[in-house]
Amino acid sequence: MCIFCILGLALFLWLLHIYMTGGVCKIKKDLNGKIVFITGANTGIGKETALQLGMMGATVVIACRDTNKGQLVLDQLNKITKAYMIKLDLSCLNSVKQCVEDFKKLNISQIDILINNAGVMAPQTYKITKQSYELQFGTNHLGHFLLTELLISYLKSAQQSRVVNVASLAHKHSQLDFKDINCAQYANSKLWPIKYNIQAYGNSKLCNILHAMEISKRHGIKGCSLHPGVVRTELVREIVGNPILNLLFKLVTPIYFIFTKSCLQGAQTTLQCALEDYDKLIDGGYYSDCKLKQPKFANKQLAEKLWDFSVEKLRMYMQK
Ligand SMILES: NC(=O)c1ccc[n+]([C@@H]2O[C@H](COP(=O)([O-])OP(=O)(O)OC[C@H]3O[C@@H](n4cnc5c(N)ncnc54)[C@H](OP(=O)(O)O)[C@@H]3O)[C@@H](O)[C@H]2O)c1
Repeated sequence: MCIFCILGLALFLWLLHIYMTGGVCKIKKDLNGKIVFITGANTGIGKETALQLGMMGATVVIACRDTNKGQLVLDQLNKITKAYMIKLDLSCLNSVKQCVEDFKKLNISQIDILINNAGVMAPQTYKITKQSYELQFGTNHLGHFLLTELLISYLKSAQQSRVVNVASLAHKHSQLDFKDINCAQYANSKLWPIKYNIQAYGNSKLCNILHAMEISKRHGIKGCSLHPGVVRTELVREIVGNPILNLLFKLVTPIYFIFTKSCLQGAQTTLQCALEDYDKLIDGGYYSDCKLKQPKFANKQLAEKLWDFSVEKLRMYMQK
């Protein structure tokens, strides 16, 4: 009897694992002649996405902060396709500008698929970018926003190009407040309360969704965003840096495995958005498990407001 209970439980957990890791991109394309530009491809979901698109023949440009880690991915890519690496620190707008200058030197005339994948989550303490924005907003949204703006002419040079923003289900925890975009009221606390930390991450991810919703209206280029699922990557690096949270994390690891995706599984929805036939890709759509979903809080007015807000922030930066 007990054996049946154990077998039943094992089967249930296995089926649950399959359900949780679902969403497989079934599209395969010949991407010869296509150029993919992807941020944060030295590890995690970005690395897997770059390799998969490289295997389909795309020329892949990886933009990475840690170029030592990036070199290992570049070596892998060079065995299968033409690939380049450029240094990029999204938390510094000067670095974003330099990255685009370095891209120009590659003499590539177009970008077919821009994947804004890099991201940072839940730093242990309140942190700001070089231009004094809260780290998650500044990196995940504003850095990518500037990058996309500076690469627009390359996207316009390609036929049927697209921008794919890797957002997150965590956007549901956002409380976007344009009067306090930096969550500055918590800036002086030594330990940043997790609730507000997650809220700031959620804000930045809602911004990824809104950015993708507005891009075709502003530039005539299709944009979409996605939640990759809960994926076993280094994204939790700041969380596991805390000894107490690290211990908790270790305790829940076996359960965590059941509910989480591998990096290859986590790359599937990005691949779906990158490979979907142009006519079928929903402009401004938000995808999860390779299907179109309805994001929370996202609407046209907010997307418009965020766009104007971001342009104004960049204008102030350019004037300095
Ligand atoms: N893992 C999940 O469960 C999950 C769930 C929802 C959404 N996401 C999103 O998926 C995307 C990929 O994350 P991941 O899970 O693959 O995490 P990851 O393994 O930590 O990869 C994050 C990537 O972003 C890069 N990055 C971080 N800060 C950067 C900066 N300032 N400038 C340039 N690059 C920077 C990292 O580069 P370095 O190695 O140089 O730091 C790394 O390549 C992120 O946008 C994340 O928000 C992940």
